[in-house]
Amino acid sequence: MNVDGKHYRTIWLEAPGCVRIIDQALLPHEFAFMDLRTPQEMCDAIRRMHLRGAGLIGAAAAWGMYLAVLQHAAHDDFGRQMFAEAAALQATRPTAKNLEWAVARMQKALAPCAGPEDRRAAALRIAREITDEDADFCRRIGLHGRELIRDIARRKNGGPVNILTHCNAGWLAFVDYGTALSPVYAAFDDGIPVHVWVDETRPRNQGASLTTWELGHHGVPHTLIPDNAGGHLMQHGMVDIVFVGSDRTTAAGDVANKIGTYLKALAARDNGIPFYAALPSSTIDWDIADGVRDIVIEERGPEEVRHMTGWDDAADKPATIRICPEKTPAANYGFDVTPARLVTGLITERGIAKASLEGLRALHHA
Ligand code: MRU
Repeated sequence: MNVDGKHYRTIWLEAPGCVRIIDQALLPHEFAFMDLRTPQEMCDAIRRMHLRGAGLIGAAAAWGMYLAVLQHAAHDDFGRQMFAEAAALQATRPTAKNLEWAVARMQKALAPCAGPEDRRAAALRIAREITDEDADFCRRIGLHGRELIRDIARRKNGGPVNILTHCNAGWLAFVDYGTALSPVYAAFDDGIPVHVWVDETRPRNQGASLTTWELGHHGVPHTLIPDNAGGHLMQHGMVDIVFVGSDRTTAAGDVANKIGTYLKALAARDNGIPFYAALPSSTIDWDIADGVRDIVIEERGPEEVRHMTGWDDAADKPATIRICPEKTPAANYGFDVTPARLVTGLITERGIAKASLEGLRALHHA
């Protein structure tokens, strides 16, 4: 997508052995890059969320494996070294399926390689493939989802379509385009009037800091709301449709997404509002059906809940402040699971599926 007229992806190979990312920890206050040269640096960047979002951490894991291959390609014990690097990458964010999927795809491609040159070439080729594929799948998700928005716009006689989204499942969360926001960009670019309600998304505020920044740069009308406002807006007819992303989707259509998503799905159901999750097939975990029982939910440090970081207007610099008494115990679950029964449909690169095993199979095994 474009930032001030220049096209960017969220991750790219800047030079051999140097992977460059947009440093999302600095947004929305500063647009800057970060260079990663070792798999350890990549793990650290993922864990500390200099880059985040389901698809992007998948691509980042692939590039982390590429950097690991450059380190170990000529090692006698290449297999064991790579096994350890893969495990380290996978442990950084346990809920995201894409990460595990990308690492496994890299391992599969490396297994038959004969020597160091072969390994380096395969690592580069597959990391590029995963990156390009993510962007292409997200672009296609946008085209399928756009038609849902178009239908509502027709029913509203051209009145703006109000979309509510949670967290950031825009282009910053993927290589390009995004998932939940891709249909919004496609509709907006097509001249369909849209307006987005952006949940702030405590505790890390990805909605407030990233989604608003993205939408603003693209010129899409939007309004930031506290996390607890969505139900009220829905009761008053101010939300036409909800679009969220997914970090892991079960074979039965349950969706693990940023904490708070489930509450939005409940409110949407109570108010008869369609609730869609948009996801590339790389987030589907075909091995599990019951997401509430079987998806591992990442737990992060309590300091993210006890503190908030933002821009101190008076001092004109970033600041982190504590919002509760010192030493208050805090729980920080990163994701929750929305059961398939609350999901109107899954927007994938192959089309829109019912949130069920049959729905997903119809698209994937057809
Ligand atoms: O913790 P994050 O920021 O990596 O969370 C990922 C998300 O942005 C959301 O859960 C998103 O809706 C899933 S798709 C990127």
